[in-house]
Amino acid sequence: MKEIKRVFSGVQPSGDPQLGNYLGAFKGWVDRQSEKENFFCVVDLHALTVTPDPEQLVSQTRDLAAILFACGLDPKKSTLFVQSHVPAHAEGCWLLNCVTPLGWLERMTQFKDKSEGRGSVSTALLDYPVLMAADIILYDAHEVPVGEDQKQHVELARDIANRFNSIYGETFVVPEPVIPDIGGRVMGLNDPMVKMSKSYSHIRGHAVRMLDDPKEIERSFMRAVTDSGNEIRFSEEEEKAGVNNLLGIYKVITGKNEKEVERDFESVRGYGDLKKTVAEVVVEELTPIREQYEHLMDDVAELDRLLAIGAEHAASVSMPKVREMKEKMGLIVP
Ligand code: AMP
Ligand code: TRP
Repeated sequence: MKEIKRVFSGVQPSGDPQLGNYLGAFKGWVDRQSEKENFFCVVDLHALTVTPDPEQLVSQTRDLAAILFACGLDPKKSTLFVQSHVPAHAEGCWLLNCVTPLGWLERMTQFKDKSEGRGSVSTALLDYPVLMAADIILYDAHEVPVGEDQKQHVELARDIANRFNSIYGETFVVPEPVIPDIGGRVMGLNDPMVKMSKSYSHIRGHAVRMLDDPKEIERSFMRAVTDSGNEIRFSEEEEKAGVNNLLGIYKVITGKNEKEVERDFESVRGYGDLKKTVAEVVVEELTPIREQYEHLMDDVAELDRLLAIGAEHAASVSMPKVREMKEKMGLIVP
């Protein structure tokens, strides 16, 4: 079994990547990429469960990959690839399906949320976490950095790894979810009780999209829902959720602690100035990313070449793992 600690995470090319994705996921991936061996995956097969429009999927997949490189993922330190480019994922998913009880999947809260009220849902929506388990365990990943909402899926991946290991003998490292305490949950600007999500990024005032221009970013923040008071402090109270969210965003971007953040706003009176300051740090953070993204999209062939290199490296790790699974499961491996 592998000695070096591996990190695996994935993100769906569906909707426009937003500030929550950046602060809750991408920023942490980039900041810590020198510490471990990293695999980051644009999970287009997962996105097929929600983005059935082919042209949109193609452009969102390239966009997301370019955004991730633009955030600073360095091909020398991290392997970035597109899930469907590495057949081991779909194949591994099938093999894992065969050891996963249906009840485990029916219990997943994301499945329940996404299927609720819909007359018919695809089998893939139910099977989604098994594909995610394959993504993770085929790489013997120890750590899976994800937002809080994905914790249950990583725990399921643990259960599936354990179950496979106990039936067929030690095969997989059992992964751990790594949830960032800060930035773990960025809330919508229009409704601070709802997580900011790329699925709602079309709703006016909800999300700050990573590629928004500075004017749009400022406009979104100025419209952010707060409360009728004027106290700028961190708080768990529902009433202060809007202010808390703005301060949380500022905190993650500046890397300051809560005390330091509150001190920065000590002399600020009124939420208008708070919003303006938070918008400024967000613009400063996202502008170089947007510029680098545009630069990368000027040469799509080069982007595709980088992704092909990533896929080749990913396959060199996951394909032998699938082979090992097949042998253990009694398939004749030619
Ligand atoms: P998704 O946009 O749901 O595909 O999520 C991609 C990654 O970003 C996952 O690790 C999520 O948990 C994380 N993420 C998405 N939205 C947020 C948010 N509002 N706050 C923190 N993390 C988020
Ligand atoms: N389901 C994850 C999400 O929606 C994306 C994902 C797919 C993922 N495969 C993964 C995350 C493997 C971590 C590891 O956010």
